[in-house]
Amino acid sequence: MHTVLAVVGARPNFVKMAPVTEALAREGIAVRLLHTGQHYDRALSDGFIERLGMPQPDANLGVGSGTHAAQTAGVLAGVEADLAANPADLVLVAGDVNSTLAAALAATKVHVAVAHVESGLRSRDWSMPEEVNRIVTDRISDLLLCTSADAVSNLAAEGIRDGVELVGNTMIDSLLRILEATDRAAALEAAGVEGRAFVLVTLHRPALVDHRDRLAAVIEVLGEVAETAPVLFPAHPRTIAHLERWGLELPPLVRLVPPMDYAEFIALEAEARLVITDSGGLQEESSALGVPCLTYRDSTERPVTIEAGTNELVGVDPEALRAAAGRALAADPPAEPPRIPLWDGQAGPRAAAAIASFLAEREVSPTPA
Ligand code: UD1
Repeated sequence: MHTVLAVVGARPNFVKMAPVTEALAREGIAVRLLHTGQHYDRALSDGFIERLGMPQPDANLGVGSGTHAAQTAGVLAGVEADLAANPADLVLVAGDVNSTLAAALAATKVHVAVAHVESGLRSRDWSMPEEVNRIVTDRISDLLLCTSADAVSNLAAEGIRDGVELVGNTMIDSLLRILEATDRAAALEAAGVEGRAFVLVTLHRPALVDHRDRLAAVIEVLGEVAETAPVLFPAHPRTIAHLERWGLELPPLVRLVPPMDYAEFIALEAEARLVITDSGGLQEESSALGVPCLTYRDSTERPVTIEAGTNELVGVDPEALRAAAGRALAADPPAEPPRIPLWDGQAGPRAAAAIASFLAEREVSPTPA
């Protein structure tokens, strides 16, 4: 039996990984789940693992927060030690966080194959730590599992053609499944927005929330938006810490709440009139749901969401956000969600099948028990 070491560390990793590890088990591949501990608050970690029906991780490296170097180094050493004690045929990583890059690098150095879920996305902004993580992870990955055709083209432009598989978006597998199992009306009621058109906001990127003036400016615009439709703002711990540190007051109709349960959050996202975000995942989720999204960043690594017509890149520009939100709230909501190829709830099984063929074709002999 082949063994895969699946490494997860931060909130978005769990959502992207769960459909793949589940499908790997159905392919007859043993999965060892290693949590790096990059995220450790229940709301960002264990709550997600439970909601997604993932097994409890076999081990947790407990790296926690720290500088990029400290966090990456902790995962590097931890994954290397884990592989030495528990040999695996392949290391599976997802997304673009520090844990992703570190796990891929640790595996490559000890000659273990690497598969990357959500390979090939590019913002072309090297100042984003995630862009560095994406490019370096893809360079050392053996199997590159892509969510969309633009990712395949990005890899080809970097000379990476071998091992590239377009499998679709595993994050959407998780979304469709949780949405089916969630009582949307109850979620709206619990959040106090039932019967109202509301705006769902998340902002957590250091390039925005670590700068007092940028954060203050966007909060002011959210206050104006809230006069048309109330704003619900589930905030990342980093954002909450900075709002408190600078004593920034939220306008009356902007409601700040702690990070939310995954099921409740997806239900609210599905029912929102508009999403305003700097997250990568929300651009994709809102597109799959057909909910208009304004991305408060200067670049996106997810152009497919813009082509689909659901997402607009407004830039880190309060005036542009004010105008775009006004337009979006005045327009009719989209009737139907766009159909994005392979964002159909079956990406996890396709990714697992690609991993199974990779292991079989490479004639990787199964790890002795
Ligand atoms: C990380 C990812 C980012 C992803 C985000 C999703 C990197 C470089 N960044 O950013 O791509 O979009 O996760 O959530 O990997 N903190 C807590 N509890 C936790 C974790 C963090 O309170 O469980 C606080 C810490 O005080 C820390 C801050 O949040 O200083 C930021 O944590 P960090 O690990 O830098 O990553 P994120 O900002 O979450």
